Formats: sequence, C-alpha cells, structure tokens
Amino acid sequence: MSILFNESDGVFFLNTPKSTYIIRVVDNKYLSHGGWVKRISSWSGQCVMPLYGRAFAPVPQELCGRIEYSLDVQPQEFPGYGHGDCRDSAVEVLSADGTTVTDLYYNGYRIYKGKKPLEGLPATFCKEDEAETLEIDLLDKVSGLAVTLSYTVWNKYDVICRSVSAKHTGSSLELYKGKPLVLRRLMSASLDFTGSRYRMIQLSGSWGHERHAIVRDLTSGIQKIQSRRNASSHQQNPFIALEEYDATEDSGTVYGFSFVYSGSFCAEVEVDQYNMSRVLMGLNPDTFEWKLNEGESFTAPEVVMVYSDQGLGQMSRTYHDLYRNNLCRGNWKNKPRPVVINNWEATYFDFNAEKLFALADTAAKEGMELMVLDDGWFGHRDDDTTSLGDWYVYKDKLPGGIEEISEGIRKRGLKFGLWFEPEMVSPDSDLYRAHPDWVLQIKDRDFCLGRNQRGLDLSRKDVVDYLIEVMDNMLGSGLIDYIKWDFNRTLTEIASTMQSPENQMKVGHLYYLGLYKLMEHVTQKYPDVLFESCSGGGGRFDPALLYYMSQCWTSDNTDALSRVAIQMGTSIVYPASSMSCHVSAVPNHQTGRVTSLNQRGHCAMAGAFGYELDLNKLEEAELAEIKEQVATYKRIRDTVQYGDLYRYECPWNTRAPNETGSFGAWSNVSKDKSQCVFTVIWTYAEAHAEITVIKLRGLDPDATYNVQGPKEFFDNVKISGEELMNVGLYVSPHPHLKGSLQLILEKI
Ligand code: GLA
Repeated sequence: MSILFNESDGVFFLNTPKSTYIIRVVDNKYLSHGGWVKRISSWSGQCVMPLYGRAFAPVPQELCGRIEYSLDVQPQEFPGYGHGDCRDSAVEVLSADGTTVTDLYYNGYRIYKGKKPLEGLPATFCKEDEAETLEIDLLDKVSGLAVTLSYTVWNKYDVICRSVSAKHTGSSLELYKGKPLVLRRLMSASLDFTGSRYRMIQLSGSWGHERHAIVRDLTSGIQKIQSRRNASSHQQNPFIALEEYDATEDSGTVYGFSFVYSGSFCAEVEVDQYNMSRVLMGLNPDTFEWKLNEGESFTAPEVVMVYSDQGLGQMSRTYHDLYRNNLCRGNWKNKPRPVVINNWEATYFDFNAEKLFALADTAAKEGMELMVLDDGWFGHRDDDTTSLGDWYVYKDKLPGGIEEISEGIRKRGLKFGLWFEPEMVSPDSDLYRAHPDWVLQIKDRDFCLGRNQRGLDLSRKDVVDYLIEVMDNMLGSGLIDYIKWDFNRTLTEIASTMQSPENQMKVGHLYYLGLYKLMEHVTQKYPDVLFESCSGGGGRFDPALLYYMSQCWTSDNTDALSRVAIQMGTSIVYPASSMSCHVSAVPNHQTGRVTSLNQRGHCAMAGAFGYELDLNKLEEAELAEIKEQVATYKRIRDTVQYGDLYRYECPWNTRAPNETGSFGAWSNVSKDKSQCVFTVIWTYAEAHAEITVIKLRGLDPDATYNVQGPKEFFDNVKISGEELMNVGLYVSPHPHLKGSLQLILEKI
C-alpha cells in the first residue's frame, strides 16, 4: 500500500519507491504539509515546524488560545487566501459578500486503487495495480466552496500526480444562498519546502531558441515563470525543478513539476520571511476566472511531480518513462518512429507533383520511410497571407489532388504525411468570409494578426464540430499516415461572441477544452495515424499535447549547433521519442551557419529522425553519407527513442563548465543495456583543445562492449562496461571528427 493514514495522529503518508510525502491534519481542521523526503518507514511527528509565537503572525481565533499556530508560519498543503497566510495562495474565490477570504477546513478523505481520468482534460493514466489515489476534501462552510485535492502515488515511479477540483456546494447563510462563487485562482499543486537552499531550473527561450535550461538560486520573494499567450509557449515551458545545492546531474535531491496543460499557466516559488519556499503551479490567475453556480464544479489540470535522489538525470529518466508509457497514446506510442523527409525547407510553398515525386524518389533510395507534404497544398496558398481554413486541395498546384500525391508517394515505398493548421484562419479565406464571427475577438476593438492569421474560437461548439468534420473528411479517405498539426501565432483578444461579459475570462480555458475534445476525437478515431504537434517549432511542446500526439516538432531552428542546447533542454522533461529532429541544408536557413553533415546527422539522431532539405541538390558523396546515416539510425532508433538518456556535458552546465568551448555530450542506453549510443557535439572547437574524460553511465559493468566509431578512433575495439564507466572515454575535438563524435557500443 503506497498510501497510509494514521487516524489517531491525523497523518497521511504517500510512499513512492524512494520518497515519502507527509500531510498532517491539525486540530481536525487545517491541512498542513509535513515534507516530501527520502523515504522513511516511521515518523514521530516531532520533526515539524516548531510552535512558538512569531511577531505579526495572525492566528485563527478558533484555535482557542494556541497563539503560536499561525498559518503564515506553518507549511500548508493547500493555502487559501486572507485568513492568516499572507504568502501567495493556491485558491482564491470571490464570494457573494464581495470578499475573497477562504477558510478551507479538512472534511474527509478517500483512498482507491488506480487513477480516475480528468474529465475533458489530458492526464496520465494507469492500470489499477500501478498506483493508488488519495482524495482529500476541504470545505469553506461560509461560502459553500468545496475543494478536493487528488494525489496519485505511483508504485513503480517516484511520482505523485496532483489535481484539484472545486465545487459550489451551496451555503445555508442568507447572504450567500443561491449566489454564485467566482474562482479567481485554483492552483493544481502547492508545495511548501522547509528552507530555500535550492536552485530553480526552468526551460525558457523564444521562437527558434526554445527550452534553454536556466538555473538560478532561490532568493527572498517570488520567482515566477508564466505564459499569458493562451499557449504553453516558446518563452516558458510549463515546467520547473528545485534541486538541492549539492545536487548534480547524477546525485542529490531534485524535485520536478510539470504541468499537463497547453494554455496560459504560471509556476512560481515564493521564498518567505523565514526562508521557506512555496511552489505553486497551475492555470495563470491573470487570465482566468470561472463562475460557479450552486452545484457546479471545475477541475484544474494535472501537475506531475517527480522526486529524484540521483540528480537531474534520474528526474528526466522518470519523466521519460512515465510520459512514454502512461501519457502518450495511440498505436505509435511504443513503435519505432519512421525516418521522415519533409518538403518544407526543401521547397517552401513552391512545389508541384513532379518536384514532390523527385524528392520522394531520392528519399526512398536513401532509405527514408515517410514523406511529409508541409504547408501550401490547400486553398490558393502560395505564401502565408492566405487560405488557412480552406482545407481543400489547391488544384492549380496539385491538379491530381491529395489522392495523386499520396498514391504516388506510397507507390515509392514511403508513407504519406500532411500538414494542417486547423485552429487558424486567414482573413483571405472562404471560411473567414462565411464565418467572420468564428474567430476570437472583442466587439468594437481592433485586433492583432500574427503571421497574417487569426485564431478560431474553439470555445464554440459549432467551430469544434466543424473542425471535427474537416478532419474526418481528410482522414476518412485513408490516404494519410501522418499529420503535422501546427499552430502559428500567439493568440490575442481572447474573447468570444458567444459568451456573456461575466464569462469572458473563461474563454482561454474553454478554448483548450474545445481543442482537447477535437484532438481526442481525431486521435482516438485514427489511432494508426502518427500525429506530430507543432507550433512554429516548439511553442506548444507540453505534456498535454503529448497525450494526443506522441511527438512534436522541436524547433523551427534546424541549425545543428543551436539544436544541441534546445534538444538537451527539452530532454530535461520530454523523451527522445517525442522530439522530432531533422537534418537541414547549409548554410542553415535560420542562422546562416555552415555545419558538417556529420554534426547535423548526429544531432538529429537524438530524437525522432528525419531530413528537411532538397536531396536532389546534394553531391553524390553527401547522398552516400546520408544513406549511411539513415541505416545507422535504423540500427539505433529503438535505443534512442525508448532507452535511458544520460547527459554528460550540457551547454548550460554551470556546475562543471568545460573549457574546450561548449559542447554537448549524452548517451542513450537500451533498457537491457545491450546497446549504447554515445554522442558528442562540439559547438565550438579549439585547436589542440583540452581533453575531457567522460565516464559513461548506465552500462552493464560485467559485460564487454564492441565500440564502433570513426575508423581513426574506435574501430570495433572491445572494452568492458566497467572500464567505460570507471575509467571513461577521452574525448577532444580532433579535426577528423568534423565537429562531432558518435560511438555505438554493443554488448558481445
Ligand atoms: C511552422 C512550422 C514549420 C512549417 C511552417 C509552415 O513554422 O514550425 O515547420 O511547417 O510552419 O508554414
């Protein structure tokens, strides 16, 4: 049993394999947090925040003279607003009396096997014997607000998944009877840490520069990341971690928080006056308000919390396993992902059947397995000013329709994929002319365009139903094996013509409920289709979309050297199987940089691999190299996509900066330890550079491995796992390596 309740002391213990999470019920009223620590088998109840009076610490009068117990000082499990705790709260609700004070008191619990789905929301799932769930009820008697906290504790993983729901149960008091409550804030997780000796890790950036890991020390006050873009965003990924000061990539305690949501969010750590640190994560209260009439309830999305006592690396591997097995769905979730050729950077909008088939011919010869026809196949789209919404084929460009293209590509031995951007509409489109009211908008206000397009109002049922029909028409044809689902602007004027003024602040979240309904329909009805999400690259690379689409286009920046930081940052939370990575042309279209084909191939092989360039413009020697790369990837893809990842040197590694210039080094090890792919990419190479010794991890110490690399270096040499891990490999950016080294180690 992973969840225990000690009735006499009022203490809940939530045990994962290596951790214990403690919740206390104080005076049968207050829900207090007792710590999330390395697993313990018993607890005296003495190691808690000492009770002695603190100046200016408000004390609830119902505590009958225990003046020392202040909610402002004690660690809380789910802090309310305005009743003693002056730190940021997890819940805030506007009552009929015009105030926002809540007194949420303990009101019972339930424990059950497994985990319930979150209605209308993506979330992790499991079989009954994989986890246990604790639900704790809280009640504010005055307003009638009931809150249920849910904790799913996993047997196999050091993971606790949290979600929260709020219900207006009604109040018997005259002032409140029959009146609505307005939820202004409902965080999905709140966790009070004793002390502030932690570093906070966040994944931040911009378009073409997503998920760069930033590490900073916690300090007094609030450190916060957020999105108000109605998308999880390029700028801040819905993830933070706290690591203890002595933690490294491989050792020490790290706590991860990952929000299963694609819209506006916030995650913050507040270090208070006593150096306690409060983590809050959930829907962004700046962009959210939800009116609850009596009897109505609201469920907030899930936060996945991971505990690691083996550093950041183990935290990542836990997320990878959980997200691959218990979040991703569809028939592709555990299957080797095909090697892709995408025509976007090869042709942009300028293509016809002949060009596409010429590309497919060469791709097939090189061993590639799936060709994606990207943007420009519909309406009369020759550039990005027109036609989104008109999801019928552009006959001037492709007179034979999608049938001819799909059949032609399949005949060449490749699967066929197609690009869509269903959530958007161009003002120059038949759809917009017919339904100008279908876009997000505020009456009488000017609006913003982004990439010349507007966002459809997915809070409307008719719009979602229409999009279901569009996708059914396309996918029902059976011509499509893969879909790239794009989303290419920041949404603004997030309001709906269908909603009354008091409900406009719901629209951002209703948009996602509509999108999730649409994606649920499409992905469940066509489970054999491989879905890839995209948002100008990685603007919506979040766990919620992985529930529907098990891979995501990592970044529009395809420069191999830029990609080292982007992909290694992404790997902090997301598995390699979810990262779509392509080799593109040089000079690179985003940075103008020239990198070797070697570097581009090795870098893209860190994820779901493919190409995105005009193969027919390459020299024979380059095509020969590509053929070899494709063959190599097929040999290692199970290990890369479904093995364990170990990071050695990261461009952000502030703990042990390498002086060679920066480089990234990682390895992927198959679960049975029989194969390991070790990769180093130098983002800056010095002549006669220092030599770095990298001790490999995750190998079988008792086995001997055949190590295969470039002939000059590791030409099928035999080395024991023990030696590779304890002595290590000597690496240095020799000119023969052309900027990168890939070694394939196989157990003999
Ligand atoms: C986005 C995607 C690109 C490409 C273009 C097409 O930017 O990230 O890969 O599909 O749209 O317009």
